[in-house]
Amino acid sequence: MNYSIETKQLRKAFTSVKKVPGVMGSVKGLFSREKTEKVAVSGLDLEIRPGEFVGFLGPNGAGKTTTIKMLTGIIFPTSGEASVLGFKPSERSPDLLRQIALVMGNRQQLWWDLPARESFTVLQKVYDVPYPDYERRLARLVRDLDLEDKLDQQVRKMSLGERMKCELVAAMLHNPKVVFLDEPTIGLDVVSQQRIRAFLKEFNQAEGCTVVLTSHYMQDVEELCDRVVVINHGDKVYDGTLAALKGQYAPSRRVRVVLSGDAENPPLPQGVRLVESDGPQLLLDVPAEQVARITGQLLQELPVADLSLEEVDIEEIISQLFADSRPNVSRETLAEDPVA
Ligand SMILES: Nc1ncnc2c1ncn2[C@@H]1O[C@H](COP(=O)(O)OP(=O)(O)OP(=O)(O)O)[C@@H](O)[C@H]1O
Ligand SMILES: [Mg+2]
Repeated sequence: MNYSIETKQLRKAFTSVKKVPGVMGSVKGLFSREKTEKVAVSGLDLEIRPGEFVGFLGPNGAGKTTTIKMLTGIIFPTSGEASVLGFKPSERSPDLLRQIALVMGNRQQLWWDLPARESFTVLQKVYDVPYPDYERRLARLVRDLDLEDKLDQQVRKMSLGERMKCELVAAMLHNPKVVFLDEPTIGLDVVSQQRIRAFLKEFNQAEGCTVVLTSHYMQDVEELCDRVVVINHGDKVYDGTLAALKGQYAPSRRVRVVLSGDAENPPLPQGVRLVESDGPQLLLDVPAEQVARITGQLLQELPVADLSLEEVDIEEIISQLFADSRPNVSRETLAEDPVA
């Protein structure tokens, strides 16, 4: 099988010199340096097929960005192997770089003082995209991302959302086969997030490119990713569908109820747990398989003015995944539902 991305025991440890405070510390440091090692990624095995849209999840500091940096050749692995489109990313072959793209939500890659259009022209030359192709692609990307009237505006004067859309245009102009997106929707309003999601979905389907996405927004992951890989402390702790992950780790649902009238401390159906209450508003924890029965019962028995099901929070699921210390749950069991 030819994978777009394959890693074997990929590992990255950062070493830094421990500095003892004060003048004496600096003097001591001249003679002996105490080094500390931080393992950011510890032996990651990953196989991603062409065209897959993979969510790469994990808490802050899990090692997601470090992995993406190794896969794009920005930093070198300490040990292990990585292959992207058959190339070793650390060799930074122009043939590989021409076929991949990286977008980092918290880092600007476009020229700040130039109008976006000029940055795109530079990239056309850098990537050697034939002119008619470039024009066609640019027109399509600009239309899909709603940027028609922004192209001649200096990047520094754009809103965060407009800038991020321009970053995406810049990344996609050369028709990359593998796209790495590191928190592309961070800090954006819901409308911009939605627009970017719709674009990414369409782009992945139309172009068949492989996409690896990190995001702390559940909506991104849910709408886009067929498969999620979860890491913690640099270790893979889950690899499979989001549905299976949710089923396994979110056996309950949250139901928010607003009561009308004066119904303090109402009796709740069996199996329901009150998470919080604020006047007439109640947040309830309900077993997933009983949601239909229990909401029916609530509507019948209580003076309900409004009732809504709340989204399962991916961060909550992930923290449950990490907190899970059942002795018989091995990594293999957690990962037993890989995408077919
Ligand atoms: N250049 C570096 N030198 C030393 N330690 C580093 C360096 N880069 C990252 N780390 C450490 O490696 C770990 C993994 O960091 P990384 O940025 O990969 O996390 P992340 O999963 O992307 O987190 P976030 O969700 O916050 O973006 C962290 O503990 C971080 O402090
Ligand atoms: Mg990161």
